Amino acid sequence: MRAPITVAVTGGAGQIGYQLLFRIAAGDMLGPDQPVRLRILEVRQALPALEGVVMELQDAAFPLLASVDTTADASVAFEGADHALLVGARPRSKGMERADLLAANGAIFAAQGRAMQEHAADGIRITVTGNPANTNALIAAAAAPDIPRERFSALTRLDHNRAIAQLAAKTGAAVADVRRMIVWGNHSATQVPDITHATVGGEPAVDLVGREWVKEAFVPTVANRGAAIIEARGASSAASAASSTIDHVRDWTRGTAVGDWTSMSVISRGEYGVPEGLVSSFPVTTAGGEWTIVEGLELDPDVEAQLRASVAELDDERSQVRELGLLG
Ligand code: NAI
Repeated sequence: MRAPITVAVTGGAGQIGYQLLFRIAAGDMLGPDQPVRLRILEVRQALPALEGVVMELQDAAFPLLASVDTTADASVAFEGADHALLVGARPRSKGMERADLLAANGAIFAAQGRAMQEHAADGIRITVTGNPANTNALIAAAAAPDIPRERFSALTRLDHNRAIAQLAAKTGAAVADVRRMIVWGNHSATQVPDITHATVGGEPAVDLVGREWVKEAFVPTVANRGAAIIEARGASSAASAASSTIDHVRDWTRGTAVGDWTSMSVISRGEYGVPEGLVSSFPVTTAGGEWTIVEGLELDPDVEAQLRASVAELDDERSQVRELGLLG
């Protein structure tokens, strides 16, 4: 058996945590022969509920689960962590403005960034799921200047997976037949699902579905899927968010398939005109635990216009958190 890998998960008593922890312990994220140590960070009030989750983890008797620790102290949670899955975040409550949400979460992610810099393993890889995910990742990175920038990422894989599922359903193809999907920009309603480079069973997707469907149905359905799930379920997407977080880390560490790519929010170095330093979603390939943005793709004019709008939103969020003093 290999030595265990330490995975820190924040917000473990929440909805996504309840799905995510079990999938990690089952080996879905790091592989069927890779033992894991779980370190779960929660706010103090949620620790009793988290104990129930830990009891269930024990009861499932996962052969790969080497240990589970819970704490309300970030420095304990991130000690020696190889992966940090930052899921816990302050939800938007009634009457709360977006600026208040950015400030509340900014404080959380800045503190966690500092704790990771101080305590995590040298090779730590960070995935932010908690919203506003892209800007939270930016804040955590700013608070941890000694951790290489490319180790910070935010989740747009759920949007990517939703886009694949919609295209597969429309064309009657299997999900596995869809390749080269892209989601650009922010994980928000301004995100840019893009099928102009996608293929279905080797055929160009646009030729199969037509531009009208892309504009009228595909883009709005994918971009507003989170709201549709809240409407139907009375709660936000949790199992699919957890599953996509697993996909994100699995592909980051174990690589994307030859001839395909995935969507990940990572720190821009100016690719596709996205201002340097913003955490934006791009098409990426991964190998050996490193990601590379797929460069040189021609942007469709509609996609380009939507990407500029999404990036303007990211830029605006960055200005707001900068004004709050959260970028150092
Ligand atoms: P939830 O409210 O059920 O759980 C969040 C948990 O985080 C709670 O148990 C809370 O106590 C904990 N928490 C809050 N502050 C914390 C801190 N400072 N340290 C550690 N734990 C903390 O929410 P849910 O449904 O699990 O969603 C979590 C986050 O994921 C939300 O921000 C949500 O908007 C986001 N999300 C992101 C998606 C994406 O695609 N990027 C998709 C779906 C949800």
